[in-house]
Amino acid sequence: MSSIITVGGITKTYGETIAVNDLSFSVEEGEIFGMVGPNGAGKTTTIECIEGLRQADRGEIQVMGLDPIRQERQLRPLLGIQLQQAHLPDNIKVWEALDMYASFYDNTLDWEDLLEELGLMDKRGTTFRKLSGGQKQHLFIALALLNDPRLVFLDELTTGLDPHARHNIWDLVQEVRQRGKTVFLTTHYMEEAENLCDRVAILDQGKIVALDTPANLIRDLKISERISFQVKGEWKSGALEDLPGVKNVQRQGDKVVVLGPANGAQVSASIVTGVVNALAEAGTQFSDLRTEYPDLEDVFLTLTGHQMRPERSE
Ligand SMILES: Nc1ncnc2c1ncn2[C@@H]1O[C@H](COP(=O)(O)OP(=O)(O)O)[C@@H](O)[C@H]1O
Ligand SMILES: [Mg+2]
Repeated sequence: MSSIITVGGITKTYGETIAVNDLSFSVEEGEIFGMVGPNGAGKTTTIECIEGLRQADRGEIQVMGLDPIRQERQLRPLLGIQLQQAHLPDNIKVWEALDMYASFYDNTLDWEDLLEELGLMDKRGTTFRKLSGGQKQHLFIALALLNDPRLVFLDELTTGLDPHARHNIWDLVQEVRQRGKTVFLTTHYMEEAENLCDRVAILDQGKIVALDTPANLIRDLKISERISFQVKGEWKSGALEDLPGVKNVQRQGDKVVVLGPANGAQVSASIVTGVVNALAEAGTQFSDLRTEYPDLEDVFLTLTGHQMRPERSE
């Protein structure tokens, strides 16, 4: 495999804010590469620097061996770009949007085929305003694919969509990759990164805190269990942190998440018994206790000390 994108030490500041802080990484041809992190982590700034839409203060970027700003004209036909803040006029019809975008390029795919593949054929005469959130995003994907690009950028494509619409988009992104394209996407959904991406860079406060396949990131946690429960009534910690094998205890409102045991630690196979006993002894009432395997969200939590989202809602 060869790198289709290489980023070397880019930094971008806005006044006092360091949006992106000395980032280096590369993206391989044919992969779905994800950049995941909370709001404000620097995802959009990074993707827009790579797209040539913003200029980094420092550092080097090469996309297919070209400089995204100085060689923008050579690069543009090879890139498919969907912007986080994409807008179309309310009254533009789906086919008109495709027709307009097609006029920007010398060579385009047949947009009728594209509509068919993206399940939008019956919406071709519908105005943008009347599309659902998911349909709008399908249209933005269609627009990003119109010039048959080699590399597709998708910035927080599924933010705000319901889980069903989000899963449809995941299928679509997989199909885009199956057509041989490289996908660079950003998301603030850890679950999305875990399910969709071959490799994930976890971004926090403008820095990459980890970069690997989701499976490796989770394995490197060296934690085998996540226990979560709801506290009912008064919370008495029961010194969960001090139990053998417990690596991390996080409380958000009534929800508590306990991570452990460290793989290979000299503790019994599960920390559930210890946790339940400690809660009972402390007199803490709880419900909805469950044990699960750790996921990318736990990787983020362990590496940064804070949670991605206040609630693990989906
Ligand atoms: N045009 C801008 N002017 C000033 N600050 C900005 C601008 N764009 C982004 N920022 C700031 O830079 C940081 C990173 O933003 P952004 O790259 O949009 O993060 P993300 O996409 O991960 O939410 C945030 O603190 C944000 O407020
Ligand atoms: Mg963003």
